[in-house]
Amino acid sequence: MGLIVRSSHLHGAGVYTLAPITKGTHVLEYTGPRISHKQCEGLYSNSEVTYLFTMDDEQTFIDGFGMAAFVNHSCDPNCETDQFGDQIWIIAIRDIAAGEELLYDYHLWDAEPEDLAPCYCGAKTCRGTMYSTEEIERQKKLLHRRALRKKARKLAEKKSGKRKKRPTR
Ligand SMILES: C[S@@+](CC[C@H](N)C(=O)[O-])C[C@H]1O[C@@H](n2cnc3c(N)ncnc32)[C@H](O)[C@@H]1O
Ligand SMILES: [Zn+2]
Repeated sequence: MGLIVRSSHLHGAGVYTLAPITKGTHVLEYTGPRISHKQCEGLYSNSEVTYLFTMDDEQTFIDGFGMAAFVNHSCDPNCETDQFGDQIWIIAIRDIAAGEELLYDYHLWDAEPEDLAPCYCGAKTCRGTMYSTEEIERQKKLLHRRALRKKARKLAEKKSGKRKKRPTR
């Protein structure tokens, strides 16, 4: 098909096509060892990048090893991923011209709000992060709940402090 890995203006290395690709083409399989949730823990914690891909059961992960692991994220992508049995494929969702970078939406999920996962795709519709819209909502709610708990804790501390300050007879 004529794909190459080279430097990307979005991040590090990316995958580019040297020839036009027709909409619907299965472009690349996301290959690599299958690992469990437990095996994922800490695997990329000291790294800015992650090559983990979550499979449909949300219990199995592919530790990307191969060209597909270099495909970057975009909020306005030209590809999507789909699972067929045990395989994940990157599929063109529109005709792609020779020279274009292959991109799919990572829809990242299940992270701590402190981990911002900023997106540099530059699309008009960029979410500013590689998280899915559902994950952005989940994190907003989580932060709101944390803020409420903090406020309640401070109030409780203030009340107990006042009690301590009362003069004893
Ligand atoms: C599967 S790797 C993709 C290949 C990566 N560019 C490299 O050089 O190794 C995924 C990582 O690339 C980075 N990345 C991919 N797309 C990005 C984007 N649109 N904005 C910012 N970082 C991106 C993130 O650090 C992410 O964890
Ligand atoms: Zn974006």
